[in-house]
Amino acid sequence: MYICICRAIREREVDAAVRAGARRPVDVFRAYGKSPQCGSCACDMRERIAETTARERAEQPALMAAD
Ligand code: FES
Repeated sequence: MYICICRAIREREVDAAVRAGARRPVDVFRAYGKSPQCGSCACDMRERIAETTARERAEQPALMAAD
């Protein structure tokens, strides 16, 4: 499913960017060499980033302890 229609960024691409260190929508756009257009995806993208970050941390409790 697309998170960003304007730039054709899918949920799985947001997840991959988060795994590579993205923590803000702008980081996701940069990861794919794109920039936001209308900006209407920002809330959904932030939500997806938060969910993926939380899931990553839950799967790697040793890293969470190091934070
Ligand atoms: S939907 Fe992402 S910039 Fe328009």
